[in-house]
Amino acid sequence: MKRIALFSAMALSIGLMGCASNGGGMASAGEDGSTYMTKSFKEVIATSFQAKGSAGLDRLVQTEAQHECSKYDYLGKPLPKDIAARIEKDHYSKVVYPADGQYFGDWKAGLKIAEDGKGMTWNDKPGTPNGGNCINCHQMIPNNPSQGNLGPSLIGYGKTRGNSEQIVKYTWARIYDSTSFNACSQMPPLGASHALTQQQMKDIMALLFDPNSPVNK
Ligand code: HEC
Repeated sequence: MKRIALFSAMALSIGLMGCASNGGGMASAGEDGSTYMTKSFKEVIATSFQAKGSAGLDRLVQTEAQHECSKYDYLGKPLPKDIAARIEKDHYSKVVYPADGQYFGDWKAGLKIAEDGKGMTWNDKPGTPNGGNCINCHQMIPNNPSQGNLGPSLIGYGKTRGNSEQIVKYTWARIYDSTSFNACSQMPPLGASHALTQQQMKDIMALLFDPNSPVNK
């Protein structure tokens, strides 16, 4: 099974970053992977979707990271280190930190955002706040049975990592755009894609770091 990451904005409700395909005339690999998506496959994709509401066709355009990661995944080879480093450096340089230097909001609001997987679909009213869908991929709340494990457990995050400037900024950048640390990250770029506002990111940060939040209990 080969992954082809196609969507620049994530489908929040299903937490799916890519779609699966294996050949069947849809894709074929040249030696260099340049033809991993054939013209006809691209045409099928381009003619199979319609723009509706906030779900625009720009979601079908792969980012450079998605293109390179899908290509090398298709070839069954690891992404070359120099390409990975270039992509990560480029994404890291574009992380926007809070202008007021305040990284922490309200952990109770953060908990709701972490548990909320709604938003960014064609029938969501533009401007309605989105969820962060963190628990779809991370365990972070003790005794909640419906948490995913695609990502590492975040239980006890603040308690075990502390709150040095370095770890606080790292965590912000991770949530803003995880590609900054892993070119082929499966975590959606929640800040860079504008899925979450700065205030929502601050609330999530409080959830991860506040000693009173359920994450650290
Ligand atoms: C679609 C799955 C997915 C979603 C949704 C997701 N993450 Fe992640 N996250 C991952 C994966 C996978 C990793 C592991 C690293 C990687 O792949 O880049 C990760 C890594 C992290 C890390 C770094 C952990 C470490 O040990 O340094 C943090 C922090 C994090 N995620 C927080 C969040 C928060 C907060 C949210 C919600 C706002 C969230 N994630 C939503 C998949 C996800």
